[in-house]
Amino acid sequence: MPRPFYITTPIYYVNDAPHIGHAYTTVTADALARWHRLLGDDVLFLTGTDEHGLKVARTAEANGLTPQEQADRTSARFAEAWQELDISYDDFIRTTEPRHHRAVQALLQRAHDNGYVEQGTYSGLYCVACEAYYNEADLNDGNCPIHGRPVELFEEDNYFFKLSHFTQPLLDWLGEHPDAIQPESKRNEAIGLIRQGLEDVSITRTSLTWGVPVPWDRDHVFYVWYDALINYATAAGYGSDPEGFDKWWPRVHHLIGKDILRFHCVYWPAMLMAAGELPPHRVYVHGFLMVGGEKMSKTGLNQIAPTDLVRDFGVDGFRHHFLRDVHFGPDGDFSYEGMIARYNADLANNLGNLLSRVATIVTRRCGGIGPAPAAESPLADLARTAFQAAAEAWEAVQPSEALEATWRLIRDTNAYLETNEPWKLEPGPALDAIMGDALEVLRIVAVLATPAMPATCAELWRRIGMPGNPDEQRLPGAAAWGGYPGGLAVEKGQPLFPRMASPETKTSG
Ligand code: MSP
Repeated sequence: MPRPFYITTPIYYVNDAPHIGHAYTTVTADALARWHRLLGDDVLFLTGTDEHGLKVARTAEANGLTPQEQADRTSARFAEAWQELDISYDDFIRTTEPRHHRAVQALLQRAHDNGYVEQGTYSGLYCVACEAYYNEADLNDGNCPIHGRPVELFEEDNYFFKLSHFTQPLLDWLGEHPDAIQPESKRNEAIGLIRQGLEDVSITRTSLTWGVPVPWDRDHVFYVWYDALINYATAAGYGSDPEGFDKWWPRVHHLIGKDILRFHCVYWPAMLMAAGELPPHRVYVHGFLMVGGEKMSKTGLNQIAPTDLVRDFGVDGFRHHFLRDVHFGPDGDFSYEGMIARYNADLANNLGNLLSRVATIVTRRCGGIGPAPAAESPLADLARTAFQAAAEAWEAVQPSEALEATWRLIRDTNAYLETNEPWKLEPGPALDAIMGDALEVLRIVAVLATPAMPATCAELWRRIGMPGNPDEQRLPGAAAWGGYPGGLAVEKGQPLFPRMASPETKTSG
């Protein structure tokens, strides 16, 4: 039986256009989903949009739209961005969908029936951009610590979730599941938040109507975060498909940015417990992508749209850069110069060179037909090591290490060709042996790199004459030495990645 593997991105707010921060999480989730499909797992990859709440209602008003129109337009922009970036999601959830309303009402009704929701009056300092209340102590000079904007004093009658009841259950959960939140530093941060003491939290609003109605009191809608988090349960079948839900839950892997740790590592597991469900299997927390040392923000005017970089680097140049250069966990700095350097080194030079050399020699000296690899080759061990290291790195959600392991194999194979100089050999068994081994490495690289660069790897696969597609292969078999059968027509073709000039050269040239 294939193992179920359920992976999610946060659902993105529809008041903001897709930028490379959103794309970073989504491309990472996509690469993991693709890796797990190669492993033969039964994958459910979910992304989507978060469409309710005050922030969306206000943005819609400012744009002269209804909230639904605002949501429809921006949700479509996210879907288009993901299509452009070759994101292979299985499901795109929108929180305005009826299936989601049903799931939210069912889950929170359950928490209510179990005695974890009660009525009260709330007044507090609210950041509209975060959709969250803050304690005075958490503010920076009276401003929201994340957005740096003034908070507003809100007071309303609403229902409270008895989060305080879950202090010990949450600590027990994290004690029994030490890997549930990764990396370790983020697990400690979550434990710190829980140990500080948890207060009951307000989960409904009467001040707006743009939300999921509370089933037991129609004057209220659920506060947007309590509706949004439940999307992960909705898509697994909560409230509509009990068998599906049993299959996927709690085997979920949430990928999130560090800004939403409190919601995913404290509130969400507690909500699930209140409804009698198990907390998520894994939450992987990554840092911010910074531009010029600052977090991208609408107000900071430093947002970069994925499409602007795709224009220069291509889809796979974009995907490879973010997966390879941003270490998953800490903050990462984006720079255009760094992106050119990575593209030239890994793609134009290492991978591009290897394919072009091999295809040129096979065309000129082997009659265009790729020879089979030898059973024993110095490259066979390197390929085995690359696969093992890549498999461990994907398992640990470290795409940059998985790709580094793959590129080490590419660099070593280029060095092997430089040592053996096949371009100086006459046609014959010695030349065939070297070229067969190099073609076998290219075949294995096409499989190992397909989660990062699906279109490029399909083209590489085709150029060495392999039938089908690398993403239809199954690991570990497809990484075993000897899979290139030989006797296949090899095509030279245009360079996969033309070298890019640095910005200085561009302006001066
Ligand atoms: N709608 C909520 C999430 C609800 S999940 C149940 C939200 N949306 S968001 O549009 O603001 O996007 C949040 C996610 O986008 C972050 O957690 C992160 O994954 C990604 N990023 C947004 N800006 C980012 C950076 N500058 N850098 C890296 N990732 C960033 O919060």
